[in-house]
Amino acid sequence: MINVDFWQGRYEAHNTPWDLGGPSPHFAALLNQKPDFLKPGKMAVFGSGRGHDAALFAQNGLDVIGFDYAPGAVEEARKLYGSLAIRFEQADLFDMSKADSPWAGQFDYLLEHTCFCAILPQDRAAYAQSARNILKPGGYLIGVFWEHQDEDGPPFSTTEADIRQTFGADFEICSISENTPASGRAGIERLVILRRKMEV
Ligand SMILES: C[S@@+](CC[C@H](N)C(=O)[O-])C[C@H]1O[C@@H](n2cnc3c(N)ncnc32)[C@H](O)[C@@H]1O
Repeated sequence: MINVDFWQGRYEAHNTPWDLGGPSPHFAALLNQKPDFLKPGKMAVFGSGRGHDAALFAQNGLDVIGFDYAPGAVEEARKLYGSLAIRFEQADLFDMSKADSPWAGQFDYLLEHTCFCAILPQDRAAYAQSARNILKPGGYLIGVFWEHQDEDGPPFSTTEADIRQTFGADFEICSISENTPASGRAGIERLVILRRKMEV
C-alpha cells in the first residue's frame, strides 16, 4: 500500500533512488534564465523530501515552506537545510484541499518534483484541488513531471495529456517542455509551468 508508512520506510531504509542529492537541474536552469514570472514571494513545495529543491529556491530569494507527510523526510530536510531561512512541515497535501485550510490562498508558487508521480493516479484530481486551493489566483505551479513506459508505479507515468486533463480546468498551461535529458534521467522528465486561473 502506498501511504505515509510506505514513504517513511523508504527514508528509514535509505532506499530513495529518486533523490539526486541536490536540486533538479531543471530548476537550476530555470532560475538561471531569470524568468519574468519568478519574483520574490511565498512558495510551497509538495512532497519536499530531503529539501534540496526547496533550499535552492530559498537561496534564490523565495520564502519557502516544504511539506512532506513522512516524518523522516522532514527531519532530514531540517538537518540538511536548517541553517537557511526555510521551514519544513509535516503535512499531508490532501488535507490542503478545503477552503478552510490554514494554507488556503497563501502561496504565489507551488513547486513539485517527483511528488505527483508518487501519488496514486486516482488521487490526481484531489492533488490538483489542493494545488489550486493553496495558490493565490494567478499563482504558479512549477513542476518536473515524469513520463515513462512502465504501467506500474510509483513513479506513475504522467503524459502531457494527463497534465492537461488534471489541471486544465483550474490552470492555464504556460509551458510544457519537451521530454529532454537534463539530470541523468534522460527522456523521462518534463518541466511544466502552470498558472492558476484568475477567475476560478
Ligand atoms: C519520490 S519522493 C520525492 C521527494 C522529493 N521531492 C525529491 O525529489 O527528492 C515523494 C515524496 O512525496 C511525499 N508524499 C507522498 N504523498 C504525500 C502526501 N499525500 N502528502 C505529503 N507528502 C507526500 C513522500 O513522503 C516523499 O517524500
